[in-house]
Amino acid sequence: MTVRRARRGAAATGDADEARRAEGDFRARLREGAGFEGPPGARAWAELDLDAVRANARRIRRSAGVPLLAVVKADGYGHGAPAVARAALEGGASRLGVATAAEALALRQAGLTAPVQVLGSFLDSEADLIAQAEASFTLHEEQDLRRVAAAAWRAGRALPVHLKVDVGMGRHGVDPRSAARLLAEAQRCPGVRVAGLMTHLPCAGAPDPAISREQISAFARLVAWARREGLCPPQVHAAASAALFRFPEARFTQVRSGIAVLGLDPGGWAARADVHLRPALSLRARVMRTRVVARGVAVGYGGRWTARRPSRLALLGIGYGDGLPYGLSGRGAHALLAGRRCPIVGTVMMDYALVDASDLPRAPRPGDVATLVGRDGEGRILLEEQARKAGLIPYAFATGLGKRLQRVVRGMQLSPPARVRRAA
Ligand SMILES: Cc1ncc(COP(=O)(O)O)c(C=O)c1O
Repeated sequence: MTVRRARRGAAATGDADEARRAEGDFRARLREGAGFEGPPGARAWAELDLDAVRANARRIRRSAGVPLLAVVKADGYGHGAPAVARAALEGGASRLGVATAAEALALRQAGLTAPVQVLGSFLDSEADLIAQAEASFTLHEEQDLRRVAAAAWRAGRALPVHLKVDVGMGRHGVDPRSAARLLAEAQRCPGVRVAGLMTHLPCAGAPDPAISREQISAFARLVAWARREGLCPPQVHAAASAALFRFPEARFTQVRSGIAVLGLDPGGWAARADVHLRPALSLRARVMRTRVVARGVAVGYGGRWTARRPSRLALLGIGYGDGLPYGLSGRGAHALLAGRRCPIVGTVMMDYALVDASDLPRAPRPGDVATLVGRDGEGRILLEEQARKAGLIPYAFATGLGKRLQRVVRGMQLSPPARVRRAA
């Protein structure tokens, strides 16, 4: 058929030549326009742009004016922890934060030597692993002090801890009324080196700033007391991404940031502080098939979408098995093809999603690349937009990206191996 088309084209008039050129241009745009080459044979992939991570870390660091701890838990919010961690450090982050002992060890196994803090609660069985990873602990309750002291005795060296005060999150952390006593106790405890005093703000992105201001003040009073008593550790930290841009008084001696390092700005706080972040992740899938369905035909599971006109549907090789949320079904979400928005129609399936490509000037072909998150020419779909349409927060969208999804990392730099710098 292609040959026949080509022959017809050869015999055609200038108009037909023109049309063929346009067709060729459009095809090239669909296939290679923005240089989207996934891994060989991949039908769906996530692209991680490390230059964006570096730039974000640099901008956050500069805007905050204090050291940055880059939070890379949950595999760097689904973006790939070792690569994000390395790029954040190259961009100026000083430390890394994870949730679990296993995540700290994984960073070490990947060759990362920067100070790491396990920000999460830990089980007795995790304490020795945190010590092995040369990471610092976060104390969330009185018994944690005993757990760390025991692990220090087994490790034969003092272990660094950060005391976490609960100013309102209500999940873990020491009550502010007992924090002063526990801080004093930790400072005296053999085998424990108090490296930090911290809190986490639960409502930093909430419309009313009053609650966060009150919580920051409660923490600041404790810090002031600790300073007066000579008990204050070197690192004092409270602000994550939203708070670090919104409440400068919450920056203390360090900020912690996960989502903003990835270029996501869920509440728009970075933009309001005139800090422009670059999204680090793009999500793409190839067209598997296209077909034209007649008006009135229902498609997909449950027949939840019916063609209102003869429609050209493109079947994309990405589904909820890859992390494209099922919640995008019937929610007015889009994918980009050749830079143009095409509605996602019907239900998102385990391996596929359908888009209505009827309004494209030409039919896409198998192998063409669709963008679910990211840029394609003039078109752009933010992860925040897809998350909102799926009824998710951006954190949940990103961490939900599946194992089957292939990965492309751009902007890798070779850095020389170094000795582990023990966590502080
Ligand atoms: C204790 C702590 N600090 C910092 C962060 C980073 O938050 P964000 O990704 O909003 O910067 C988290 C993430 O949940 C956290 O649990």
